Amino acid sequence: MSDAFKRQAAQAAMSEVRSGMRIGLGTGSTAKHFVDLLGAEVAKGFECLCVPTSEETAKQALSLGIPLTSLDDIDALDVTIDGADEIDRGFRLIKGGGGALLREKIVAAASARMVVIADNSKLVETLGQFPLPVEVNPFGFAATRRAVGNVMEAFGAQGGLSLRQRGGETFTTDGGHYILDASFGRISDAEAVSRALLDIPGVVQHGLFLDLCREAYLAAPDGVIRLSEQQA
Ligand code: A5P
Repeated sequence: MSDAFKRQAAQAAMSEVRSGMRIGLGTGSTAKHFVDLLGAEVAKGFECLCVPTSEETAKQALSLGIPLTSLDDIDALDVTIDGADEIDRGFRLIKGGGGALLREKIVAAASARMVVIADNSKLVETLGQFPLPVEVNPFGFAATRRAVGNVMEAFGAQGGLSLRQRGGETFTTDGGHYILDASFGRISDAEAVSRALLDIPGVVQHGLFLDLCREAYLAAPDGVIRLSEQQA
């Protein structure tokens, strides 16, 4: 899907921020547009204090002069604007395609609101076509991988499980963890899958974002639509 749609969704979400807000900054190619647009406003005098969800976003924000803080220094955020790999009509998400899911979830949970920006190819009937990222501790990796595989089998997963690689090496997250990409095909009970994965000691977090997002801006060829839980 074209980068122009991602930019349009990011542009539309600028209406969600006001000067003086504390804002969570997402990660990924769509969130990158939002950070760009926010940076342009900051250059014109817009005031905000932001918490980035990855080292990559922190670097981009700093290069644009966006003031950053951390969740150790403020107690809450007004809003987090972030992308998603999949979103369903119940505002359940799969995130983590860029590997930042742990910080993204911590920041979203510390925000009064989470708003997703995406092109509308991310809107799905049922989650699971996009492989679910599962962040795991490297210690005891083989045991954790087996346990994640067992959860996939128990929930009728249609695809396999792979350890994420980048540039020929095992990908490591900002927190020093690995990512297993779990191809479920279809996740019909996301809450149960979430609980089962979090029951595995070596699982640090997974990319199912449940009960965190209630609004989304989705860009399509005929414009950007705003979905919110009130309308759903
Ligand atoms: C980063 O870890 C992810 O959660 C991204 O937010 C998600 O993968 C969406 O990325 P794009 O905007 O690049 O599609």
